[in-house]
Order: sequence, then C-alpha cells, then structure tokens
Amino acid sequence: MSDRKLVQRAANPRQYDGPALDWLSVGREASPSGGFFRESIATSLGNLAGRSLLEIGSGTGRLFGLFKSLGTSKIKGVEPSAKSAAVSRQLHPDVPVFEGPFEKFPTEEIFDRVVAVMVFEHIENLNGAFSRIHRCLKPRGEFHLVVGDPECQTNPALYDRIEIEPLDRGALAVCTRRPFGVLCNIVRPLDHFQEAARGAGLTSLRTTSLPATAGLIAKHQSLKILGGQPLCHLLVFARAPEEPRE
Ligand SMILES: C[S@@+](CC[C@H](N)C(=O)[O-])C[C@H]1O[C@@H](n2cnc3c(N)ncnc32)[C@H](O)[C@@H]1O
Repeated sequence: MSDRKLVQRAANPRQYDGPALDWLSVGREASPSGGFFRESIATSLGNLAGRSLLEIGSGTGRLFGLFKSLGTSKIKGVEPSAKSAAVSRQLHPDVPVFEGPFEKFPTEEIFDRVVAVMVFEHIENLNGAFSRIHRCLKPRGEFHLVVGDPECQTNPALYDRIEIEPLDRGALAVCTRRPFGVLCNIVRPLDHFQEAARGAGLTSLRTTSLPATAGLIAKHQSLKILGGQPLCHLLVFARAPEEPRE
C-alpha cells in the first residue's frame, strides 16, 4: 500500500527551493523551454489589450514579457518558491507576485485571464484548485492551462525515472532525474482536468496537443524520438457570461 510519499514531494510548494533542483539554471526567459511555452500560448491568449491576467506558478516571470507584449493592462503572479519569486521581482519589479502556493492565494480580485504553465503537476487537490480558479475569473474569463503529456512525462527513453507511485484513476506521482536535478510531478490523464473544470462550473473551449517544435528539438535532441507525439497539451476553459446568484 502506497504511503503517498511521492505525491507529497510533487505537491510540496517549496520543491523548487530545495537542494535537489536547480530550476534557476533552466527556468529563465532565454531558455529553449521558455521560448517553446511562449510560442505555445501566444496565439491562444491573443490580444490582451485592456485585460487583466493572473499567472499561477509564475516562476522567474519568464512569461511576463509575452503577456506585456500582448498588451495586458495588469499582471499578477503567484509563486511559492522564494528563489524564483526573488528573480521575478528583480526582472519585473512592476509585476506584483504573491509569494505562496495558489491554495493560499486570496480570491477577492477577479481577472480576465488565468494562466498556468506546467504547474498543475504540483497541485494535489485538483477540484479545489479549479473552484479557486472559477472564483478568480470574471464572467467570460478564460483559464489557459498547459500540462505535460502523461506518456511523454513517464517515457523512460526521455527521462530517467527514479521512483513512481500509482494514484487514483490512472494518475501517477513520478520523480525523474533531469539535467537540472530531481523533479517530482503528479502526472494525470487529461480527462481529470476536464472533469475538475466541469465540476467547478467552467466550460471547456478547446484542447490542443503541443508537439516539440523544431527549435526545441534543435536544443534537446532527445525529443526527436517523440516523432510528432505531444510533449504537452494546452487546455482552455471559460467561465460562463453570467451565472445565477447563489
Ligand atoms: C515547472 S515550473 C514552471 C514555472 C513557470 N510556469 C514557467 O513556465 O516558467 C513549476 C512552478 O510551479 C510552482 N508551484 C509549485 N507548487 C505550486 C502551487 N501549489 N501553487 C502555485 N505554484 C506552484 C513552482 O514553484 C514552479 O515555479
């Protein structure tokens, strides 16, 4: 019987400050993955002129430049890693960052867009997170979520799997060795996100597979073996235009 040791490591909001991970060496704006994620969400986010945006798990703020270039009127970040939040404040002093996990983020303010890129791998209570997102969105507001592809995330040819722990309904907690250290993630089938969104009253607008781009493969040759299979997925959800008062 599993004691859920790995899920606790994956959902530890201070994982990115621990000695096992050197996230600052890869999580910067100029890194190949930064470029890949910016490219992946830019079209989906579209013109953000006059729109406010909340980024959950904003890390070093490597997507803030994109949000600014799309014209957003206000950005706010949520980031539990003290090291990443410090870099973010240094590079983008104009963007306020709530230093703590999303589970503790106060939800009085509402936004036009909420974005989370490779962060829900660290969220244990999916239903709780989706109802919090619903509370953070304006009517017609959208949630843009990027998650890793489950097969890719657990592919032993790509990542050296150290430990793996089965969870409910096909989800896994998995610790892999990466060039920047040991990373523990919760890997879930996509329908877990869709179900949690529905349960929170959000509608699914679209789901798009994101294969590795030529630019990313040029920097990470090992990704060639995916041969067009998805590396990640972008899921977009919306809050209804109007909802009856409770
Ligand atoms: C793979 S990094 C991605 C960072 C950023 N989204 C990017 O693309 O550069 C995952 C981020 O999620 C943050 N994180 C972990 N648990 C979190 C939680 N409970 N709430 C908000 N962010 C969390 C980590 O500290 C880390 O910065």
